[in-house]
Amino acid sequence: MAHLYESRKRILVTGGAGFIGSHLIDELLRDGHEVLCVDNLFTGSKQNIDHLHGQPRFEFIRHDVTLPLYVEVDEIYNLACPASPVHYQYDPLQTIKTSVQGAINMLGLAKRLRCRILQASTSEVYGDPTIHPQTEDYWGNVNPIGVRSCYDEGKRCAETLFFDYHRQHAVEVKVARIFNTYGPRMHQSDGRVVSNFIVQALRGEPITIYGDGTQTRSFCYVDDLVNGLVRLMDSSTDLIGPVNLGNPAEFTIRELAQFVLDETRSSSSILTQPLPQDDPKQRRPDIVLARAKLSWTPRVSLREGLKPTIAYFRSLIQPAVLVTSREYVAYDMAGLKAASAYPAGGQA
Ligand SMILES: NC(=O)c1ccc[n+]([C@@H]2O[C@H](COP(=O)([O-])OP(=O)(O)OC[C@H]3O[C@@H](n4cnc5c(N)ncnc54)[C@H](O)[C@@H]3O)[C@@H](O)[C@H]2O)c1
Repeated sequence: MAHLYESRKRILVTGGAGFIGSHLIDELLRDGHEVLCVDNLFTGSKQNIDHLHGQPRFEFIRHDVTLPLYVEVDEIYNLACPASPVHYQYDPLQTIKTSVQGAINMLGLAKRLRCRILQASTSEVYGDPTIHPQTEDYWGNVNPIGVRSCYDEGKRCAETLFFDYHRQHAVEVKVARIFNTYGPRMHQSDGRVVSNFIVQALRGEPITIYGDGTQTRSFCYVDDLVNGLVRLMDSSTDLIGPVNLGNPAEFTIRELAQFVLDETRSSSSILTQPLPQDDPKQRRPDIVLARAKLSWTPRVSLREGLKPTIAYFRSLIQPAVLVTSREYVAYDMAGLKAASAYPAGGQA
């Protein structure tokens, strides 16, 4: 429901020019709020927020969250951090600084402003889990010295900071543990499995599967995830988290590859490569807590969510395919709430 002027909030979204952040901003603006987007554009892009220029309730500041920020806001969503292994391993020290120093700076801001702050944490805090599916009380199985540690341990330390600011300074915090999320505006070269497969299929290149493809993942469509983040932010004060947010439907990597091939109607072959270090074998959220406390459940199936995602990548890779680009724009504007408007028979 759109907010009236009196109940309108000014909301800071760090990492707002990124994939999830830009969709979150769309939702907050649709809800009638003012949004201040702070991003250093490391993995985000101006294109992701281009459509918001001229929107009077939207502002953008190019800023690195490892440096102090002095602004006046009513709420903070802290999303700034590269999320894909390719990006977070590019400059591991900057990744840790972004998670840890960025969290300290944003928590300091929340403390001064006495405002709520939500942390975009990750399922990576569970590492290579020894229990399945992962519930929030599982402490994880993380390698502290591996190549993924800059991200995993950075995010774990950020969670610690959130809880200590809450205990020590009574800052109102919320911690979301986000599982694999996909959708339009993902980076086309971020090395994440959904974007990788789609780009390879659209280019007619072989689809690369690491290992034998029996490792499983769960995939949450971005609109569902954003809905969960907003519900968590708006939840009662006593709900701090961590709360798992993800889609519990589990698929093998090989199944995902087949869905992408079907939806893109690509004739790409499948190529297998050795499994990288610390690659988790299974990943599926237990969302009992989110269901109970937030009445949240993902609504978009993988096949359904792949359609607008593929249309988005098609518009980047083959701008000449105008019909597909228009389909994407229609999706992007209305989200999957308008899914019934999609032509029967799926992606052409
Ligand atoms: N996408 C997922 O599947 C997923 C899963 C778990 C957690 N998350 C978390 O959600 C958040 C958003 O992820 P995303 O997928 O949108 O990634 P993304 O890379 O698209 O977005 C991250 C944004 O943060 C910005 N950023 C990075 N370092 C910064 C810094 N020092 N100062 C200011 N801005 C900085 C980037 O430029 C980018 O716009 C991240 O915190 C990520 O860890 C994402």
